[in-house]
Amino acid sequence: MSTTSTPGPVRVEGREKVTGAARYAAEHTPPGAAYAWPVPATIARGRVVAVDAGRAMDEPGALAVLTHENAPRLKEADDATLLVLQNDRVPHRGWYVALAVARSLEAARAMAAAIEVTYAAEDHDAVLATDHPGLYTPDEANGGFPGSRERGDFDAAYARAAVRVDATYTMAGLHNHPMEPHATTARWEGDRLHAHDSSQGATTVQKTLAALFGMDSERITVVSEHVGGGFGSKGTPRPQVVLAAMAARHTGVPVKLALPRAQLAAVVGHRPPVVQRLRLGADADGTISALAHEVTTQTSTVRQFVEQAATPSRTMYVSPHSRTTHQVVELDVPSPSWMRAPGEASGMYALECAMDELACATGVDPVELRVRNDTATEPDSGKPFSSRHLVECLREGARRFGWHERDPRPRSRTEGRHLIGTGVASSCYPVYVAPSSAQVRVDGDGRFSVRVNATDIGTGARTVLAQIAAEALAVPMDRVAVEIGSSSLPAAPLAGGSSGTASWGWAVHKACRALGDLIGEHGGTPPPGGLTATADTSDDIESEPPHAKSSFGAQFAEVRVDTDTGEVRVRRLLGVFAAGRILNARTGRSQLIGGMVMGVGMALTEGSTLDSRFGDFAERDLAAYHVPACADIGDIEAHWIDEQDPHLNPMGSKGIGEIGIVGTAAAIANAVHHATGVRVRELPLHPEKLL
Ligand code: MOS
Repeated sequence: MSTTSTPGPVRVEGREKVTGAARYAAEHTPPGAAYAWPVPATIARGRVVAVDAGRAMDEPGALAVLTHENAPRLKEADDATLLVLQNDRVPHRGWYVALAVARSLEAARAMAAAIEVTYAAEDHDAVLATDHPGLYTPDEANGGFPGSRERGDFDAAYARAAVRVDATYTMAGLHNHPMEPHATTARWEGDRLHAHDSSQGATTVQKTLAALFGMDSERITVVSEHVGGGFGSKGTPRPQVVLAAMAARHTGVPVKLALPRAQLAAVVGHRPPVVQRLRLGADADGTISALAHEVTTQTSTVRQFVEQAATPSRTMYVSPHSRTTHQVVELDVPSPSWMRAPGEASGMYALECAMDELACATGVDPVELRVRNDTATEPDSGKPFSSRHLVECLREGARRFGWHERDPRPRSRTEGRHLIGTGVASSCYPVYVAPSSAQVRVDGDGRFSVRVNATDIGTGARTVLAQIAAEALAVPMDRVAVEIGSSSLPAAPLAGGSSGTASWGWAVHKACRALGDLIGEHGGTPPPGGLTATADTSDDIESEPPHAKSSFGAQFAEVRVDTDTGEVRVRRLLGVFAAGRILNARTGRSQLIGGMVMGVGMALTEGSTLDSRFGDFAERDLAAYHVPACADIGDIEAHWIDEQDPHLNPMGSKGIGEIGIVGTAAAIANAVHHATGVRVRELPLHPEKLL
């Protein structure tokens, strides 16, 4: 029942993008614009004693050097990483201690190099250890999930289980590294602030700037018209928008600030390193009786961020006795933050590798083991799932992949000096939706325009919103224009949590239906002056839904391991997902495959090394931080189950932005074990770990 549907409409802004006509935040140059270049701290902890800007101000074209002594004062921020240049404290290496502003980019950069900062350094601690005395269990992990949960009696059930798996998995930190670095062009017109910012949600940036600068949000306009990726790192406002706004106010001219790639690792968030201990107790047939998932991670001293990696174990499998915990330590390191499928990507790596170890320990086929532990109700909440087609994904994936031909014995397939192996893992991602508003207008000629502050971070938001509107209005898509990407449009939530299309689309759908009614009241023809309808979904979204809601999927990988070099190549990757109705097969497939490619990076090449002596990450560019390129990807396929779920939203969709990465790394790691017989419980699977 997997869909091989027509491809779906092409991106409405595709031509603009490929011809270079689409402009990104740093490509706007207001008359008289100046350029800024930030200065990162070179110590891991301490104080700024003095900033000597004398030599910097001698640069031709120099306009200003902002420091904590002269920068505009900021008021409030929920996120303390935005309180830049407000005091002399250095909480981690890379924290901004000054900003150079000049008539040209080159001059700003030269100024930044000439600024002399004197520090009083203090001892720092940048080492995550599972016995660190500073570890504590927070009340909540990210997303408001309980930090710790217990059901039944794990210890007793685990002790009496016929088969036990106890394994600890370690992941390096990971960086989002969107193709377009974080950038802002800011200008003040009197007491009004206008910013082009590369963000995943301009309404969020506008509200945050209003709080920081103590202004009414009506006086702030934030535009995020085209965004070259974010993967979570642009889901919250970042220092560049605050610095650019401060510099523009201080100098009186518009200021452009594009963060240099080499500085990103310290200031725009990352997935933190995570250590996960999994214990599975099962019957001889593989039915899980006891499950413990214990997460140890780190955050900074600036902001508490706790990757909610144990949460998938509260959703995935039958587990009458369960313990899921997070503990965190505040180190003198850069602040972690959201990165694609936070919690699920990391947590499912560990859980799904442990499931593979349980399959080996019981002799149950890995697909069958997961089917056997499927559950109709969410184990932790006890709620029934609104829809759950994990088993169908596993079965359909197994059929398409040719799983039944597999010899389960490790090291059973060789091709010359290569070992060949296959692996499977499940995927999941929660269904999120947030209130949104939207406006739809029809003019006298029967042309429709949709206005909503959605953001297209490369997903195809404009296109799918035009589809949703056209369907709700029962008109051809070419009669619908969509305007998104500005806080001057009806307020909307960010492109994050795989919730964008559901959230914005719901409001667009509702406004279109209201407009349809208005047109009906006019006898089916809009009057010459047109008609407008607005909608807000605040009252439509249940605060305590009776169902647990999640997308599910199954990932299959075939790897080839070079026995001379330890190099792993992914020859085949196949995912089958159940994510409600897929609204646009073309852009949807692209998102799922994009997630899976990011999962290949997580498994094999990506990893940020925290140098404990310096308290900062060693990889500063895309030459050192290896994201997969086309040549790293062999056959890759994404399919889906046509899932009908009446409990979601008027479109019947779940999110697809993040589930593609979930489970990929485990499927690859499990395939590497199958190929080699060696269980490496540490990502990334660099060649030296396999030799
Ligand atoms: Mo995603 S990490 O919610 O942008």
